[in-house]
Amino acid sequence: MTNARISGLRSVELGVPDLNRSSDFYQKIWGLQDIAAEGDTIYLRGTGAEHHLVALRQRPKAALLAVNFSASDRTAVAALHGQAKGYGVDGLTDLAELPRAAGGGYGFRFRTPEGLPMAISADVAQHGDVISDRSRPTKLTHVVLNSAAIDEQTSFFKDLLGFRHSDSTDMMEFIRCCADHHSIAFARGNGASLNHMAYEMANFDGLMRGAGRMKQAGFNIEWGVGRHGPGNNIFTYFVEPNGFVTEYTTEVEQVDEATYVPNTAEYWRNFPGRPCRWNMAGPPSNRLKAAMSGELLEGADENLRCEEVMARTLGR
Ligand SMILES: [Fe+2]
Repeated sequence: MTNARISGLRSVELGVPDLNRSSDFYQKIWGLQDIAAEGDTIYLRGTGAEHHLVALRQRPKAALLAVNFSASDRTAVAALHGQAKGYGVDGLTDLAELPRAAGGGYGFRFRTPEGLPMAISADVAQHGDVISDRSRPTKLTHVVLNSAAIDEQTSFFKDLLGFRHSDSTDMMEFIRCCADHHSIAFARGNGASLNHMAYEMANFDGLMRGAGRMKQAGFNIEWGVGRHGPGNNIFTYFVEPNGFVTEYTTEVEQVDEATYVPNTAEYWRNFPGRPCRWNMAGPPSNRLKAAMSGELLEGADENLRCEEVMARTLGR
């Protein structure tokens, strides 16, 4: 069905109850940099060309407000909009010019069949400079979504948006829209929510430097350091102050479209080195599992401890 397709993952929009504190965390500890602010929103870039990787918006509760994808040009955006309209997707907005503070461009928003907010754009301003600091994220590289209807969601992204299938496990489906092994994955859950977002580091040394900065700021490594099976990426997971799960990752497998063959859940069930190819990382912490399911977004006590540590670290 698909002709036009998504070409990459740009950014996430997060609703946060304390905009300034969240901005402090994402800049001073996670390693992003503010590049624009407008109204209730702050835009934060990484070291790469993408205009911003995170948009933080002041909201009463922590919430995922959008996953933003790129298309190659305005024609592709318009074609994807037409495909979405034909598919009858929920929450479809008109094609529109986008705010200057967000890098401008042209795009639209819609919701997945399970109700999660998405956006597609082209012509968004890109940075001409690349910041040389391997300890800071270069780009947003994947987003994992929980789903109570994993097969339907995977089909939706493949049929409507042009994603390709990369791998299956008993718990997850991995799909891609560029050379990265996965830009989106779905995890089996009780409903639709953000499981985690992953930021690419330039190399393993950079990942460790970032993880060390997080550790010194009082954030436990909740899973890792390890190397995943599907995607082969090195990972380290944290719970940020709002209760979202955030990952530093590097060395994600680059897929050759001509030769790549997806692996089945059975293949991964029998794969030596689970859940970590190095047999280094054990299972994720219970706290991480709770955060991945969205249970910590309501301001659980555990989060407060992290926030207190962060406040001390930031001298506030
Ligand atoms: Fe991940």
